[in-house]
Amino acid sequence: FRVPVPTNEPIQGYAPGSPERASLSAKVASMSKEVPEIPLIIGGEEIRTGNVVEVTMPHNHRHVIAKAHLAGAAEVKKAIDAAEAARHDWDALPWEERAAVLLRAADLLCGPWRDTINASTMIGQSKTCHQAEIDAACEMADFFRYNASYAVQLYQEQPESSAGVWNRLEHRPLDGYVLAITPFNFTSIAGNLPTAPALMGNTAVWKPSHTALLSNYYTMKMLEAAGMPPGVINFLPGDGPTVGNVAIPDHRLGGIHFTGSTRTFQHIWKEIGDNISGYGQYPRIVGETGGKDFVFVHPSACGAREVAVALARGAFEFQGQKCSAASRAYVPKSLWPDVKEHLAEILSEMKMGDVADFSNFIGAVIDDKSFAKLKGAIDRAKDEANVEVVFGGECDDSEGYFIQPTVAVVQDPKHDLMRTEYFGPLLGLYVYDDDRVDETLELCATTSPYALTGAIFADDRYAVRKAVNTLRFAAGNFYINDKPTGAVVGQQPFGGSRASGTNDKAGSILNLLRWVSPRTIKETF
Ligand code: SER
Repeated sequence: FRVPVPTNEPIQGYAPGSPERASLSAKVASMSKEVPEIPLIIGGEEIRTGNVVEVTMPHNHRHVIAKAHLAGAAEVKKAIDAAEAARHDWDALPWEERAAVLLRAADLLCGPWRDTINASTMIGQSKTCHQAEIDAACEMADFFRYNASYAVQLYQEQPESSAGVWNRLEHRPLDGYVLAITPFNFTSIAGNLPTAPALMGNTAVWKPSHTALLSNYYTMKMLEAAGMPPGVINFLPGDGPTVGNVAIPDHRLGGIHFTGSTRTFQHIWKEIGDNISGYGQYPRIVGETGGKDFVFVHPSACGAREVAVALARGAFEFQGQKCSAASRAYVPKSLWPDVKEHLAEILSEMKMGDVADFSNFIGAVIDDKSFAKLKGAIDRAKDEANVEVVFGGECDDSEGYFIQPTVAVVQDPKHDLMRTEYFGPLLGLYVYDDDRVDETLELCATTSPYALTGAIFADDRYAVRKAVNTLRFAAGNFYINDKPTGAVVGQQPFGGSRASGTNDKAGSILNLLRWVSPRTIKETF
């Protein structure tokens, strides 16, 4: 079995004067003038419930960019029925047909759909063109292409046979629909969560995030254009409780593919536990949740500039709203003055504003709730005697939800800013005594309940090894001398443990394994 050998989709640069920049810019402008109606798509049918919400731009929150219909309990039930009705035909299709849909979707995405998916991600989620490009275009295409090749590897996994006996492993899908609950922060993840199970022969009910409806709707349309048959993925905008109350206890639930908050995930897990005897199978629970991702700078780290770049990019790209974003840092006293100086220079060059202006590096945070939470934490930090806000600190929601990239230096390494996830451009930073490096490393390993990403900057190989060991369970993605963001599909399988999730590595064979339920067949001759 072979599928086209996947390679990472090259990132377009959108340099000033380039044709791709002109084309994307025109798309952003035209899309900003439209107000499409977003229906539910169940069993291939577009459904308008009349329960409509306005979708707005985070960086211009009075600007309506779509009106979306929301599901009620009846539509949730209908979506489950549609997924169940499509399940057997989809599963019976040879895997090549399923893979072909995703491979075609990847080609559509990198061709005629690129501007639509990137522009809708920019205006709907306030991503800059570069952030949209690496997420919505490249990473989503990578998920589709790499998963197709991982599926082949998985299907080829077969047991030994012996004389007179033929043993086979049949990689069946799960015996029930998959509920995909997707986040706002990556269009690629939103595209991956329903399609990875679908690739393995499952059907899905997809509940997109309220704050990513535009790009997610176009992603669904693109999948349809690629030939995804009706009912295989059912697009179901709706509020969490309405969807969850029907879709989680349904006895046909085969699994959950979730990315979102730790609190919601724990709630879902409890709900499943409460209903456990009612299911036809034990639902697979796969989730990526919060993070309090760290950068630990060792005194041997050379290059204060590299450290400052990693802090600025790791903490502030996409307004710190990547699951992987650095939100706490540990810097030795000896290096802090230099790092601070470089950070000041870099931050002064990071322009914030409307992402339609391609020279802006920072957009707005996603919505009013996120803005209020971040502003509250920043205001508290400003008022506290033992915290110094050294950069940023301004918050302005008069037009869009803008939070200046903020660095708060704490006296107490166990301060709330070093433990609590705020999911925005707010970095807690602790300056430690150089002779307390081991103790600080221990603190880094144990201060937060999360374990998603982390980075060590060091040149001393003993220090690197020590950090690798001490921080062994503190991050599912660990970086040596690099920022803790920007995992690439096929290169750094992504996911964390502890309160950060079930660590079923997105973009790897390990994730696809979760969407099969193998049957062993022994035939005796
Ligand atoms: N995969 C993304 C990153 O590594 C986060 O979801 O930045």
